[in-house]
Amino acid sequence: MTMQMAVDGFIADVKQILAEEGASDAGLERIAGRMAAFVREDAVLQSHVEVDGNIHTGRQSTPLYTDGDGLTLVRARFGPEAMTPIHSHGSWGVIGVYQGRDQYQVWRRLDGGEGDGHAEVELIEERILEPGDAVVLPAPPQDIHAQQGYGGEPTYEFVLFGANTMVLPRLYFDPASSTAREVTPGMR
Ligand SMILES: [Fe+2]
Repeated sequence: MTMQMAVDGFIADVKQILAEEGASDAGLERIAGRMAAFVREDAVLQSHVEVDGNIHTGRQSTPLYTDGDGLTLVRARFGPEAMTPIHSHGSWGVIGVYQGRDQYQVWRRLDGGEGDGHAEVELIEERILEPGDAVVLPAPPQDIHAQQGYGGEPTYEFVLFGANTMVLPRLYFDPASSTAREVTPGMR
């Protein structure tokens, strides 16, 4: 089993789930279950590459998979130095940790808006994700989160998005000023 075979098998199963359930709550939970299996596969663990800095919110990684429908799989790393900005990607997603632990925050938008400008958000959950854990990033506008490597170590993950978030604008939230600003990937 190679990494490519593991990715192909994962994507095939994800497409089957989406065909049966769509990106419903039940469908996304099933995909999270499949992600939890994916991040425990030997070929996936052996595919690990060390990288510096945060990828996913900062500079971009080349997706392991992307297609015309937007379905996109990326590898992500979060260092222990600081929490990422509170942000969203404009898509549902499923996060799976394969190495290190992730101090993972779920935020919720309260003002009914979807875009930049005035935005009120509150922290609703913080948990430590362990290797083998997978969580659902709900559909916009509630796909809001922040992450940090936990315990002084970076965390390495895979994230599956329903849309190609490598090109979609993101929102960065500032709870103190109740604002969100739009950021195009690859820029700060
Ligand atoms: Fe993110």
